Amino acid sequence: MSRSLVLAIETSCDETAVALVRAPREIAASEIASQIDLHQRFGGVVPELASRNHLPRIRPLIAAALQQSGCAIGEVDCIAATRGPGLLTALLVGHSAAKGIALALGKPFIGVNHLEGHLLSPFLGSDTCPSQSVGLIVSGGHTSLVRLDEVGSYFLLGRTLDDAAGEAFDKVAKLLGLPYPGGPEVDRLALKGDPKRFDLPRSMLNSGDFNFSFSGLKTAVRYLLPKIGGDYRADLCASFQEAVVEVLVRKTVGAAKYCDVSLITVSGGVSANSRLRSKMTDAASAAGMQLKLTPPSLTTDNAAMIAYAGLERFLKGLHSDITEEADPNLKLV
Ligand code: KG4
Ligand code: ZN
Repeated sequence: MSRSLVLAIETSCDETAVALVRAPREIAASEIASQIDLHQRFGGVVPELASRNHLPRIRPLIAAALQQSGCAIGEVDCIAATRGPGLLTALLVGHSAAKGIALALGKPFIGVNHLEGHLLSPFLGSDTCPSQSVGLIVSGGHTSLVRLDEVGSYFLLGRTLDDAAGEAFDKVAKLLGLPYPGGPEVDRLALKGDPKRFDLPRSMLNSGDFNFSFSGLKTAVRYLLPKIGGDYRADLCASFQEAVVEVLVRKTVGAAKYCDVSLITVSGGVSANSRLRSKMTDAASAAGMQLKLTPPSLTTDNAAMIAYAGLERFLKGLHSDITEEADPNLKLV
């Protein structure tokens, strides 16, 4: 029997992406057209600009992905697209295109939650299927701890009460005059800095729950800036990053212990962070837990993770209705 093949489109923010994933967890093609250059001069994503620029990119990307995979569109078993959360006008482009293709081909359509894409991405390309675990989803828009029982069955353990961790990285980078997106810049500068030089708050570290708060940390950096002089940027990046990473690591390992699971996963744009990867690796090993980090090429937004989540749903018969609408506030749980 041939292995199921899913084509997916992701346009929830400023990345236009198309990918093909084949059962059980193999990436057959993954194409991403970044719009970072267009949004960089505004210091963040401009929704209208993002959606307008998705439109001309979709068809060439589908053609490129099919060519890369060596497959014909007729071989695809199901068409998936990100349904939400994200920017509505951006989501509409990929979601509508996918529904149109599914209708034209007479194939099932599956609308995928972007966060489910991130959550399952540590398993993509690996030799194990999703199993009982606690997942930290940490990106520009979200910071959540989720217990995964099986694909489609999730329980929210905690989330940020204000800024997402990636948002804090981006805002602190902006305060320091670093380009957008700031996360990778802070990570790079922090490598040369002293994480102990500035004592920054670890908000909610001992709150007794699995929620997060990062806006106080960002404000602490803002108030600190006028008081320091000299060459401080690397030390400040390292100290800020250390505060974020310590809270993320402690809460994630604590949540896994609380749920009595021995597998931790980390996904989303901020999971590319080098300090988070090394500290989480140390902490998981000290706690005797297994850790699955998202492969570096899949941490930021991509369509392979959407195709994979779509594939898992397709295999369970969880098709979406073709009249389904994109939802900018779609919840995972
Ligand atoms: O998952 P993603 O591509 O988009 C969302 O769904 O939000 O995540 C983007 C976020 C941005 O805030 C970016 O600054 C952050 O991920 N990011 C990083 C790193 N690489 C990307 N943050 C810290 N360290 C990094 N190396
Ligand atoms: Zn994302």
